[in-house]
Amino acid sequence: MKRSTNFLTTEMREIRDAGREWIHRVLEGPSDTICKVEGKEVIMLCSNNYLGLSNHPKMKEAAIEAIRTHGVGSGSVRAISGNMDLHEQWEKRLAKFKEQEAAFITSAGFAANQGVIQQLAPTTNDVVLSDRLNHGSIIDGVRTTKAMRAVYEHCDMTSLEDELTKLTKENPRRILVITDGVFSMDGDHAPLGDIYKICESYNNAIIYVDDAHGDGVLGRDYSGKGLVDHYGLQGKVHIEMGTFSKAFGTMGGSIVGSQELITWCRNKTRSYLLSASHPPATAAASIKALDLIEHEEPNLVKKLWDNINYFKDQIINMGYNHEITSASTTAIIPIIFGDPLKAKEASNLLYSEYSIFALPIVFPMVPRGLDRIRVQANAALTKEQLNEGLRAFEEVGKRLKVF
Ligand SMILES: Cc1ncc(COP(=O)(O)O)c(C=O)c1O
Repeated sequence: MKRSTNFLTTEMREIRDAGREWIHRVLEGPSDTICKVEGKEVIMLCSNNYLGLSNHPKMKEAAIEAIRTHGVGSGSVRAISGNMDLHEQWEKRLAKFKEQEAAFITSAGFAANQGVIQQLAPTTNDVVLSDRLNHGSIIDGVRTTKAMRAVYEHCDMTSLEDELTKLTKENPRRILVITDGVFSMDGDHAPLGDIYKICESYNNAIIYVDDAHGDGVLGRDYSGKGLVDHYGLQGKVHIEMGTFSKAFGTMGGSIVGSQELITWCRNKTRSYLLSASHPPATAAASIKALDLIEHEEPNLVKKLWDNINYFKDQIINMGYNHEITSASTTAIIPIIFGDPLKAKEASNLLYSEYSIFALPIVFPMVPRGLDRIRVQANAALTKEQLNEGLRAFEEVGKRLKVF
């Protein structure tokens, strides 16, 4: 019995020896700008909670009210008996926010990518064409299809066109072009306008954009409606995927698009059909998130952008002036140390000596030499908190001779 599980010990030893074990820090309380982490008060600079909504009093009130009226669980999958009025309202509210015909909610963004990509390109006569730096949940979705796979170079439109030309010769039934809206390691965004223009001339090309980090961050006039809105491509990009687990402060994957697409998703997506619906509190708080962004606190996204611009400018001016940092166009601010040990040491110093919580991201999650700390800005951070973070980065940068 024991011998059959010996690989657990061996594989964990290998992970530890390679310095790749995930040690989970424990948050003793809400995710907020100041968090209590294992007894220590720290400034949070590595959360996806970009708009500070996960502990917002009105979000909590909405969740508590839903618990009073609907209980704590949904009892089933949507298609059987777990389809509450709150789930229906959540989807309608999201479709309205996104200015699309309809929306569809899955348990998480991962489940949306896994379940929908699998069905969009299921046969060996289909092709998935992916940006080289797409998120792991897209890659895992693609792994569950029988489709042919191809990759174009990161945000490189010549490479996209070359691949499309090559693939067309195979006479595929469909070509699913998938891109992250915002790339989660570098914080740059996809040139969706150009992708649309190129794909327009292929009548079997379908565009799928994962806007997990663009939702609540990007959009014209600080709308937070995401990358599709940034380029005004509603009704043109076929499939817009997102998640409530980042700027919207709760949890749940989403697909928005035409009514035809959403009805199809509801009937085909196994990660939706075979998985229970969200607790009512999540649905109610998610609806409130969209109300807050659009009506009740319309300055939230602008506040986030003020903080992004201030922090990023100061970081670059103090000497972290790497081209990857400058190329970020979102709330993800990669601060490059260029060496895995330096990035890890910097993160440890920031935490232990300056009470700043910002985690390192090193090879193999990013290319060699681009080891970094990935800062994520937040609308709720005060000027004083931003300055404290900046002072800490400056001192650590000098101590580790980054500049
Ligand atoms: C680009 C991207 N897509 C999808 C996901 C998955 O979203 P969720 O946390 O809702 O499963 C993430 C989360 O890390 C992400 O960064």
